[in-house]
Amino acid sequence: MCGIVGYVGARPALDVVVEGLARLEYRGYDSAGVAVLADGRLATAKRAGKLVNLRNALEEEPPPAGTLGMGHTRWATHGAPNDRNAHPHTDCTGAVAVIHNGIIENFAALRSELEEGGHKLSSDTDTEAVAHLLENELRSSGDLAEAMRRVCRRLEGAFTLVAVHTGDPDLVVGARRNSPLVVGVGEGENFLASDVAAFIAHTRDAIELGQDQVVELRAGGVTVTDLDGRPAETTAYHVDWDVSAAEKGGFDYFMLKEIAEQPRAVADTLLGRIGADGRLTLDEMRIPDQELREVDKIIIVACGTSYHAGLIAKYAIEHWAGLPCEVELASEFRYRDPILSRSTLVIAISQSGETMDALMAVRHAREQHAKLLGICNVNGSTLPRECDGVLYTHAGPEIAVASTKAFLTQLVAVYLIALYLAQVRGTKWGDEVFAMVQLLAQMPDKVDKVLETMEPVRELARSLAGERCVLFLGRHVGFPVALEGALKLKELAYMHAEGFAAGELKHGPIALIEDGLPVVVVVPPRARDVLHDKIVSNIQEIRARGARTIVIAEEGDTSVEPYADTLISVPAVPTLLQPLVTTVPLQVFACELATAKGHDVDQPRNLAKSVTVE
Ligand code: G6P
Repeated sequence: MCGIVGYVGARPALDVVVEGLARLEYRGYDSAGVAVLADGRLATAKRAGKLVNLRNALEEEPPPAGTLGMGHTRWATHGAPNDRNAHPHTDCTGAVAVIHNGIIENFAALRSELEEGGHKLSSDTDTEAVAHLLENELRSSGDLAEAMRRVCRRLEGAFTLVAVHTGDPDLVVGARRNSPLVVGVGEGENFLASDVAAFIAHTRDAIELGQDQVVELRAGGVTVTDLDGRPAETTAYHVDWDVSAAEKGGFDYFMLKEIAEQPRAVADTLLGRIGADGRLTLDEMRIPDQELREVDKIIIVACGTSYHAGLIAKYAIEHWAGLPCEVELASEFRYRDPILSRSTLVIAISQSGETMDALMAVRHAREQHAKLLGICNVNGSTLPRECDGVLYTHAGPEIAVASTKAFLTQLVAVYLIALYLAQVRGTKWGDEVFAMVQLLAQMPDKVDKVLETMEPVRELARSLAGERCVLFLGRHVGFPVALEGALKLKELAYMHAEGFAAGELKHGPIALIEDGLPVVVVVPPRARDVLHDKIVSNIQEIRARGARTIVIAEEGDTSVEPYADTLISVPAVPTLLQPLVTTVPLQVFACELATAKGHDVDQPRNLAKSVTVE
């Protein structure tokens, strides 16, 4: 949500900023704007809609060339997504411009105070209040960084703010609380951005900023302080992927590229996890083994696709590690009274590491003294910093809004954690853990095999583009896979899609079955004979009522053939690992169906990649 870019250096700032915004488009937005400082003057331009509208406006009326600027893609919270509410926002004098990601919760009170003080606010946003507050502070200090610190002390809620001021034309100031902001360190130039994708073409050296820190960016250096102006500690890191990883590489959509990258992403996430003695070593776990032995309950919190990875984790953790495991939507977690103690391990799963609901759930768990483990794909994001330990997924940058490769790598991460707990707690012998890890190591090849056989799935998807509804059924770990298949279809094709546990069919969903309704069924391996046979009966039940059955089953499972209108075969793998192969056809199905309907699968309507507000 909301993309932020700031630049100061020797290049034309407008080019750097607009290019950076293009790289942040995937975060989701509905308007865009820029500000450039040139010859002591501030020029701004902003437009509702996609970046192309802003680019056209800039072509029609180019701002003066400057080497300091900032840009913003806005995902509307306060105020409609129109030109007026797009960022940057300026103060009454037009000397200060501000961009913002997040929500300022006390903005109504601040706005009234400003209006009573004679300020004229011209938008419906919470952000504009900050520009006017800075104006007030600058009257006394004239120092933009100090003004920003003072203003931030008054703000409640979540924010990344970036501001520029004609009074100091070499300076960009940023601040963050509960919202992402990273610094890109170049030579004779520096960058600010919501994430490194915005500046990766220019530098791979980054600095992560902590909570309540203010950064002053000049061409020659970067200074970071806390809100009282004291020098702050920061962490510098090197980004281990380059600009080509964030480009489409010949695919029409990022999503297609990301689906295709899954074998590599799964392999990378498994890399380096086995020690010389054949035991699992999860270096970043950082929670001592003794403490893990004392854990008596696990709670997983996550949102969206990551929540589905959590649902699958429950089966693996309970089966391998013998620990009770609850899975909770992060957005619900702190609004009930979860029972947590020092011996509870809370695992938060988040691709971006910035999802506000997940961060709030983690903070709530911290207050209750639980141990915290994060599963995250973005180095330098907030979640890993707030957890005791972290397991990074190595999916590489995921740009398409709907998650694909990150999901598969999250599954690998939860399998590793479940096996690690089993190893540490002695619920599985070392050789059993090793054998399972060996099976995991075969998964990149299995996923590759699935990808090679997707043409019939694409054909099927195209033939269903006129349908209004698709149902998904699964059992055991196939149930979360069904939920994920339905979510993908909702996100990408804007179709009504529901996932059900097949055992629940007779308790309601079977009433939905009517002639020709497409129903996708994820069949467990034959080795799970009872479950397998029950779901085969379910397929017969729905087919008898007219459903068009699309069956995903392991290779060689002939028992489903008579009841499948379409049969999608996937390689045979152990039950718990089956989601790694059964999810892939559902991703391809949703992607192709949405494309057939003419949708932009990388940026579905109304959705954001990284949901940084609650
Ligand atoms: C958004 C995205 C989803 C994602 C969810 C959780 O809703 O559109 O694709 O699954 O956020 O994101 P996270 O970064 O926490 O995994």
